[in-house]
Amino acid sequence: MEAISIGLLGLGTVGSGVVKIIENHQDKLMHQVGCPVQVKKILVQDLEKQREVFVREELLTTKAEDIIHNPEIDIVIEVMGGVEETRKHLLEALKNKKHIVTANKDLMAVYGSELLTLASENNCDLFYEASVAGGIPILRSLVDGLASDRITKMMGIVNGTTNYILTKMSKYGNAYEDVLKEAQQLGYAEADPTSDVEGLDAARKMAILATLGFSMKIDLDDVEVQGITHISEEDLDYSKQLGYTMKLIGIAHREGEKVEVSVQPTLLSNAHPLASVNDVYNAVYVYGEAVGETMFYGPGAGSLPTATAVVSDLVGVMKNMRLGVNGKSAVVPQYPKKLKEPEEILSKHFLRLHVRDEVGAFSEITSIFSEYGVSFEKILQLPLKKREVAEIVLVTHHASQKAYERILFQLRDLSSVKEVKSSYRVEGSSNR
Ligand code: NAP
Ligand code: HSE
Repeated sequence: MEAISIGLLGLGTVGSGVVKIIENHQDKLMHQVGCPVQVKKILVQDLEKQREVFVREELLTTKAEDIIHNPEIDIVIEVMGGVEETRKHLLEALKNKKHIVTANKDLMAVYGSELLTLASENNCDLFYEASVAGGIPILRSLVDGLASDRITKMMGIVNGTTNYILTKMSKYGNAYEDVLKEAQQLGYAEADPTSDVEGLDAARKMAILATLGFSMKIDLDDVEVQGITHISEEDLDYSKQLGYTMKLIGIAHREGEKVEVSVQPTLLSNAHPLASVNDVYNAVYVYGEAVGETMFYGPGAGSLPTATAVVSDLVGVMKNMRLGVNGKSAVVPQYPKKLKEPEEILSKHFLRLHVRDEVGAFSEITSIFSEYGVSFEKILQLPLKKREVAEIVLVTHHASQKAYERILFQLRDLSSVKEVKSSYRVEGSSNR
């Protein structure tokens, strides 16, 4: 029985997990695909580096062509990360009729459609389950499990690093810098953690989710992004006092033919199922017109969880090889892209202001909200230690993004408003 041969691009956090799972689950893989699976070559940068997993020295190479042009290799697993160089390797590999499994959301969010088109033209599979929410099989669930439904809303905690940081900061009062370091040591963060904490990693994943869930090609530039670096201890305290949990939430919402996609720190009602998703865990809440509410939960990063998704994709490729149907399952978007205008994007907002503690200040502020027809769900006013300054914290009812931006603009212009300290989207109410 001839073995199926794999070439690995990368042997870091995820690559080591892939090697371990292929070795440890060989019996199960044999049973599923009917032949042994062997790792034939592994691309790395540094041949001398200490590895998390034992591999024979002769398997390692620093030359991508040893894999991409190797006639003995059937499937390339890309777990090296990066975009431009990796794109070149994968385009070359596809031209050489290699099937691809990748965990690389940076690449798929930008060059996904180019790579998928080339894969189809070459009758090759290109699977990327691990690129979104690590070990959670969310892409397959959207494409297969919910194939019969019309998905209207997806809300995701899709970045493990930021969820880990926000959990430790809000539950235990840990300092941002310390927790970020921990997340890096645990292998959750990207090589450059800026993309985690500035929300870009989550934005890439939301672009992939929205494209598949809405069957509409959503580009990274279509996703409005805000990270977690400006969140203060005070914001976390107020969030708790008001019955919310601060999370970095990706939202993809379809109404009629139009969609909005964003990633931003959000105050989630404690009653919302995503509010209890903590640490490095990810979850994607999906609302379908027929199925109603569903939620997919699991580890969003880390060696073995992510490798599980990679090796499951590998099994998918090998099953297709056996059936002779590779390259037939790529999802082609059904609808043209239609994005909502700012006046069509509705949400509640949390706002924290420092104002002069003087007669008429509060009424000046509320009259601006009234001008735009926006009312309040919650209001707190507290004196600050600094005399003559008060802190006002409020949560609005639903307002359009356009109206809310105009309100903020006018508030900043008021002499009674010393500073707009923070503002966040709010999702869910006390019963959701
Ligand atoms: P990593 O630990 O930094 O490993 C990267 C590996 O690729 C290393 O073995 C490195 O070689 C090799 N490599 C990098 N650039 C190379 C180049 N130019 N030429 C040759 N080899 C190169 O990264 P990772 O955390 O495993 O992540 C890999 C991919 O999975 C990324 O796309 C990431 O976004 C994605 N992902 C990661 C996670 C996670 O939890 N870590 C979860 C989901 C998705 P050396 O070892 O010799 O330096
Ligand atoms: N850095 C990413 C995260 C890894 O923290 O979620 C998984 O994609």
